[in-house]
Amino acid sequence: MSMILDEHRQYLSDEVRVGLYRKAISKVIKPGDVVVDLGCGTGIFGLMACQAGAARVYAIEAGSIIDLARDIAEANGFADRIVHVHGLSGRISLPERADVMVADQAGHFGFEAGLLKYFRDGAKRLLKSGGTAIPSRLEQWIAPVSYPEAYRNVEFWNSRPIGLNFVPAGIVAHNTGYPADFFKARFLGRPVRLSSIDTLDPPRTLKASISLSITSPGLLHGFCGYFTAQLAPGIVMTNSPFVRSPINRRRVFFPVQQAVRVVPGDKMTVAMNIRFDETLVSWRVQVLGRDGTLKLNSNNSTMQGMLMALADLRKIRPDFAPALTPWGTARKTVINLFDGVRTLAQIEREVFNRHRELFPSAADAALFVAEVVVPYGDDAKPESSASRS
Ligand SMILES: C[S@@+](CC[C@H](N)C(=O)[O-])C[C@H]1O[C@@H](n2cnc3c(N)ncnc32)[C@H](O)[C@@H]1O
Repeated sequence: MSMILDEHRQYLSDEVRVGLYRKAISKVIKPGDVVVDLGCGTGIFGLMACQAGAARVYAIEAGSIIDLARDIAEANGFADRIVHVHGLSGRISLPERADVMVADQAGHFGFEAGLLKYFRDGAKRLLKSGGTAIPSRLEQWIAPVSYPEAYRNVEFWNSRPIGLNFVPAGIVAHNTGYPADFFKARFLGRPVRLSSIDTLDPPRTLKASISLSITSPGLLHGFCGYFTAQLAPGIVMTNSPFVRSPINRRRVFFPVQQAVRVVPGDKMTVAMNIRFDETLVSWRVQVLGRDGTLKLNSNNSTMQGMLMALADLRKIRPDFAPALTPWGTARKTVINLFDGVRTLAQIEREVFNRHRELFPSAADAALFVAEVVVPYGDDAKPESSASRS
């Protein structure tokens, strides 16, 4: 069963998205250009770049779908122009810099799939100075919303499901953003832009406080977050619920602590603090009535919505002095045995012999070694010119 393939089928069958990228790629890429397709998946952008005349494409992909991308490039007659590089973009180096870097890593609210982090690094190491990014600019937008269906899911935990107390989970539920389609939502005011970001020089954090006017009466449950991405001059891709042709991607529902009844003329202030690279978001929502009374003061943060064990939290404190666990020691053994001479079979045997208390069978030890060899093992002298570090 491959969920991954089906995920990529959905990317390819989003005609709006594919059409906009095709237009942008043929507008931006000039014959002879060198292109980086960051997070190539099936390789769709690299193929489009070849059609637009690219001399070479470096198709970078961290997942195992890279092999399929290679076969697809071959099936389309572009194998001689596309170099497939298996690894995370931040850990690979290329033999030359690119004129254009293209990706679709925007997620639902513009950043959670890593776009800003990857492009910041790509701008420094993979792209020529003066090179072009697709997308080149990203905007985040928010709008007040009445959305009982989504809020019911948040409140679920406080409703004594199966007759027991699940309130601790309710705290997490109120401090998380939810991918949602908003088909049944009612917007209580116009959207307002939260940020506008140059993707080649993005900030690491965003602190913004914006004011939204309530224009329709209703029960406010939170706000909707979505993005617009400028792929090329005049070519904009968005998952906005307010346009006729959005891409096929959900938006994000950010709940407030308590639903509150609002009327036209009320003012809603949203103060957002986003640490893009860590995907940490906090949102403070205040609603002031027309007479100046404070109707809502809601503080939410994904820091409180993270499902992280207390023991693990202790381990990320700067004063924590870690010692190796038995499993850590076994992993160290594996790494120490990677010397470019020992074979995998020898390493598996050795690891099994040294750590018998951990592995019920030799096959279990082999599996443990396989987890390490794929990301960290390589030939002593890699042959390809594009390399992983
Ligand atoms: C949203 S899919 C897009 C795939 C393809 N570009 C498309 O538009 O159909 C993102 C792909 O990027 C890969 N990916 C995510 N972060 C990456 C990174 N830093 N370096 C390399 N690949 C990455 C994922 O494994 C996934 O296949």
